[in-house]
Amino acid sequence: MRAIVYSQTGDPSVLQLVDRPLTEPGPDEVSVRIVVSGVNPTDWKSRRGAAPGQTLPFDEVVPGQDGAGIVEAIGTGVQHVSVGDRVWLALSAYQRASSGTSQEHAVLPAERVFALPVNASFDQGASLGVPAITAYRALTVAEDGPVQLHPTALAGKVVLVAGGAGAVGHAAIQLARWAGATVVTTVSGPTKAALASAAGAQHVLTYSDPDIVDHIRAVVPEGVDLIVEVAPAQNAELDLAVIRNRGSIAVYANNGGDQVTLDVRRHFALNVRYQFVLLYTVGFDVIRAAAEGINAALADGALGVGEENGLPLHRFDLAQTADAHALVESGAVGKVLIDVTAE
Ligand SMILES: NC(=O)c1ccc[n+]([C@@H]2O[C@H](COP(=O)([O-])OP(=O)(O)OC[C@H]3O[C@@H](n4cnc5c(N)ncnc54)[C@H](OP(=O)(O)O)[C@@H]3O)[C@@H](O)[C@H]2O)c1
Repeated sequence: MRAIVYSQTGDPSVLQLVDRPLTEPGPDEVSVRIVVSGVNPTDWKSRRGAAPGQTLPFDEVVPGQDGAGIVEAIGTGVQHVSVGDRVWLALSAYQRASSGTSQEHAVLPAERVFALPVNASFDQGASLGVPAITAYRALTVAEDGPVQLHPTALAGKVVLVAGGAGAVGHAAIQLARWAGATVVTTVSGPTKAALASAAGAQHVLTYSDPDIVDHIRAVVPEGVDLIVEVAPAQNAELDLAVIRNRGSIAVYANNGGDQVTLDVRRHFALNVRYQFVLLYTVGFDVIRAAAEGINAALADGALGVGEENGLPLHRFDLAQTADAHALVESGAVGKVLIDVTAE
């Protein structure tokens, strides 16, 4: 089978198309024929390594955390999916160098494989893992709940999504709207504003606007309940200025810087909760619960992809994986997908 591998960290040129033998699933493992692979920033960050020249802990790595495909074989003990099922995948390559989705067949632990609802496409399935689970987690960590999303779970609440045209931001808008929230989002300009609106955000504002706080307060005088934050170093002051008493700020990224300075007094005066989110270490109980909620949203038709839904798709063949990585690394707007095998 065809697979993309890298055996040293570096720029996209380290990605090589190779031929590798098929492997059988062991106990509690599932073999999946990958139809579509989804590329995320985490894929190129892992490929680059934390520092130039950093050595890999594996001889070679198949990249790709996200994907969707068809179950080809199951190991003993696997009960929640069967051969022939359409599935989506999450954290495929986490601590498993040979399980990434940039190959025609992947064998991975059953707890990372989820049934794809009949109305959902492989493109949708490949766009879920990292973005949707991260967004789901961010939307379910507030002090006053909810811990699971459903169509009225966030009714009456206001969610501020920083960067609503990003992949995670897009999923956060869609999930929050599906759960009944009013969604305010910030973007850098008009093109992204149109995408955030298409995703379902009712109030779309430009984060560089010097009057952004007034604009948000005009929409939500009492403050926002929950903030899904991509750039805490840049937005901490804005977040404090618009959060309500006992509101929560869920931080999932360090875009714009690693260091955040917080005014302690003003935060404790408002009983603000900061919650950090990292998918890799959050635990598979959380991942499983998120996948269940995401599947309910998918079945309700709430997680559309494509420009009309605020997430333009960019397609590549498996042999062009280096170009796909380069596009994500350059800050592509929308979702970068790799067509791996035919449907
Ligand atoms: N913790 C986790 O488990 C986890 C999970 C998923 C992703 N991540 C990380 O989260 C980040 C985003 O991932 P992604 O896939 O959503 O990337 P993406 O599609 O590139 O989106 C990032 C978005 O953030 C926006 N942004 C940047 N600075 C902003 C600011 N100051 N205020 C508001 N928006 C701002 C960008 O818009 P402009 O460029 O127009 O400003 C862009 O739309 C990446 O760093 C990724 O590695 C972490």
